[in-house]
Amino acid sequence: MGTKRQFRIWRGDENGGDLQDYTVEVNEGEVVLDIIHRLQATDAPDLACRWNCKAGKCGSCSMEINGMPRLGCMTRMSTFDENATVTVTPLRTFPIIRDLVTDVSFNYEKALETPAFDPPEDLAPGEYRMQQVDVERSQEFRKCIECFLCQNTCHVIRDHEENKHAFAGPRYFIRAAELDMHPLDSRTDRKEYAQAEQGLGFCNITKCCTEVCPEHIKITDNGIIPMKERVVDRKYDPLVWLGSKILRR
Ligand code: SF4
Ligand code: F3S
Ligand code: FES
Repeated sequence: MGTKRQFRIWRGDENGGDLQDYTVEVNEGEVVLDIIHRLQATDAPDLACRWNCKAGKCGSCSMEINGMPRLGCMTRMSTFDENATVTVTPLRTFPIIRDLVTDVSFNYEKALETPAFDPPEDLAPGEYRMQQVDVERSQEFRKCIECFLCQNTCHVIRDHEENKHAFAGPRYFIRAAELDMHPLDSRTDRKEYAQAEQGLGFCNITKCCTEVCPEHIKITDNGIIPMKERVVDRKYDPLVWLGSKILRR
């Protein structure tokens, strides 16, 4: 037999909504998504929530729990004080569809804008050869489950709708870094692209994105900072600058 716990869940749609109180049974070992499912089976059958794998791998169940961006299926109820109310709200950075479901298409638009892997023209698939060390360098970024918690938490767009058109966000900075580290992606200058088109300059390295990443990808240290350093190297290194001027003539 479980214990009764207090929940506050945001209910509403694009026209508005508010927090509603629920008392729900919680059993040992349960996660927040279990509680949402119990509510759907009892007091709130129309409560909308996106989820799929319940194993921290599909990236669907992103929500804010007590104000922190987290995966509902990976947040154990034992994390919270038994007597405290647990508040669950939708991701703040994206438009509300209903209850805990937001419209994350901003991220898909940014993905579409990112130039795809661009290998040399004379290499056919199957002829790609690269060293193990190069495979390993970008492997970390490929763990991304596209939960968009990093996108949701970054202050550049979290409270600034007006920045969205010019800022791709941390998930796409690591995509750029991954391709930049790929020895066969030789025809697109990812550093220039990140600076000129993805809004890398807006990032002031607050590292909030890294803190919320459920895959523990070191977004800032291993992705963003190396991309920034190399952009800075090129822009402000007088020899590189002079070389580029002479070559351009
Ligand atoms: Fe989620 Fe991490 Fe990928 Fe961002 S980088 S979308 S936080 S898995
Ligand atoms: Fe945003 Fe991460 Fe940079 S939170 S400001 S992209 S370090
Ligand atoms: Fe797939 Fe939570 S349901 S990550």
